Amino acid sequence: MRWRSFLLLPWMLAMLSACGGAMTAPSPTVTIAIYRDPAVPIPARVEDLLQRMTLAEKIGQMTLIEKNSLTADQVRDLFIGGVLSGGGGYPATDNSPAAWAEMVNTFQHAALSTRLGIPIIYGADGVHGHNNLYGAVIFPHNIGLGAANNPVLVEQIGRATATEMAATGVFWNYAPGVMVVRDVRWGRTYEGYAERPDHVATLAAAFVRGLQAPDIAAPNRVIGTPKHYLGDGGTAWGSSTTENYQLDQGETMGDEAILRAVHLPPYRATIAAGAQVIMASYSSWNGQKMHASSYWLSDVLKQELGFSGFVVSDWAAIDQIDPNYDRAVITAINAGIDMNMVPYDARRFINALTRAVEAGAVSEERINDAVRRILTVKFAMGLFEQPFAQTNLLPQIGSTMHRELARTAVAESLVLLKNEQQLLPLTKDIRHLYIGGQAANDLGIQAGGWTIEWQGRVGSIIPGTTILAGIQAAVSPQTVVEYNEHGRFTGDPGAADAVCIAVVGELPYAEGRGDSASLSLPINEQRVLYRMEETCARLVVVLIAGRPLIVTDSLPRWDALVVAWLPGSEGAGVADVLFGDRPFRGRLPVTWPRSLDQLPLGSGNGEPLFPYGFGLTP
Ligand code: GLC
Repeated sequence: MRWRSFLLLPWMLAMLSACGGAMTAPSPTVTIAIYRDPAVPIPARVEDLLQRMTLAEKIGQMTLIEKNSLTADQVRDLFIGGVLSGGGGYPATDNSPAAWAEMVNTFQHAALSTRLGIPIIYGADGVHGHNNLYGAVIFPHNIGLGAANNPVLVEQIGRATATEMAATGVFWNYAPGVMVVRDVRWGRTYEGYAERPDHVATLAAAFVRGLQAPDIAAPNRVIGTPKHYLGDGGTAWGSSTTENYQLDQGETMGDEAILRAVHLPPYRATIAAGAQVIMASYSSWNGQKMHASSYWLSDVLKQELGFSGFVVSDWAAIDQIDPNYDRAVITAINAGIDMNMVPYDARRFINALTRAVEAGAVSEERINDAVRRILTVKFAMGLFEQPFAQTNLLPQIGSTMHRELARTAVAESLVLLKNEQQLLPLTKDIRHLYIGGQAANDLGIQAGGWTIEWQGRVGSIIPGTTILAGIQAAVSPQTVVEYNEHGRFTGDPGAADAVCIAVVGELPYAEGRGDSASLSLPINEQRVLYRMEETCARLVVVLIAGRPLIVTDSLPRWDALVVAWLPGSEGAGVADVLFGDRPFRGRLPVTWPRSLDQLPLGSGNGEPLFPYGFGLTP
């Protein structure tokens, strides 16, 4: 048992007496455990703490549970190391910043009341802002940031996201997604930045820097989690065995050279940018679940790339390895998973791993390695010294400054794909403007999945500005704006002084539930388009989508086409560009297929409709 003595300073005496401590003749020194002393180098703190821990305390640190699965007292009694909010994991009674801070702090107080007082790390998916929190600024999803391709902007977004998350005590962000997207039929296309590894690597590293700036020990720090390692964006259609998914969680194509050339660079870049945690992928390679691959998780990631942080599993992903749970746990932990996102039955995992260690199927060395990695991150981010929500930052949640940043990102993300007779940008004193489409007036659609709810939801689910409201604010008082969701207008959209804008989009989705065989718009939005194509003299189409859609046959009937991706809460950024306050500068981060037989990327079958990097500048 190692202790450190230090002189009892006068102010400490005063504090002790103020606490009513019996003040006999003070001893000149008191002792605190080495691991509790922030002046001690982290490796020494880790080793001091590790040698004090029981097996139960160690395995507890390797256990990450969903917040509704255990009470705070149970988190204490099981020595739990991490708690998370999954998609939609806001406080049940009140989705407010204060309620979030109280929820997280309650778990934290419980953890700190354990024998060794090891704080939990609380995580959530802040993939486009603190997006489970009502009132947080919702930034464009990554595919829009990929179109903007501005690393400085992405770093600023990381910083703003970290500030809003740290205010509520959520110091761990399961982002950025660093998938290199090779088939845009994938429901997670929009969580990725691009189809090219260097493009993804540059922006992902910027986001990690922004999240963790100025360093991971800063009070408003949040640590990032590049995900999902390895090859999640390269799966084959029809290879998934999860639910009715087709691509998501499927089998990654290509030999080792492909995995290394296409999918590994973003991990090299984010590790170099200081990433402390990496999340393993549900997907498989050569028939082996990535969560079971000691080659990729340990030999390559930890040894070859020198990753010294910890690897967290995905949500119940270990369970997919083997129908025998004990075998699944043994395989995953021995392969290199350090913390298991269980996320519900903590005791089942703890008991399985305990049995495995007692039986020698998982060595004490492996357990110590995993716990050493976890503790190193917790010490490095100052969690022992600052474990609670940074509530001084609460006023920055939803701040004007963050909303302006998001609005800039929306404007920079727009890509102009067609512009007959230089119709765009429009003048603000246009006489008649006819706007159609559900997506023009729906914050839930413009935000997309991973917004308040895991799958997102249509309707006014967040505060923000709709695209319609942005347009109405942009035009002159003399402009007559008529909006009809169905594209049925009382005025004359065919008049010479009229322009139509159809804002149509995909309904929200997330993960494999968004895998699409058709890449088509919802039928209602198609009907709006047909109606407006028939009645409008000049038609601008604005697409709200998480990926390219097949629009080849309709395109000739449109005068202009703009893709706004999934812009988030600040829809006014769309009007900023449509009416010329900001330039069109976005470029396609993914190839836009002419037809489905051109997928996955590299399938050939003729030229795409628009190539990677395409975008018009009027
Ligand atoms: C999900 C996702 C992962 C996310 C995790 C926690 O299933 O695959 O990206 O971070 O669960 O919400």
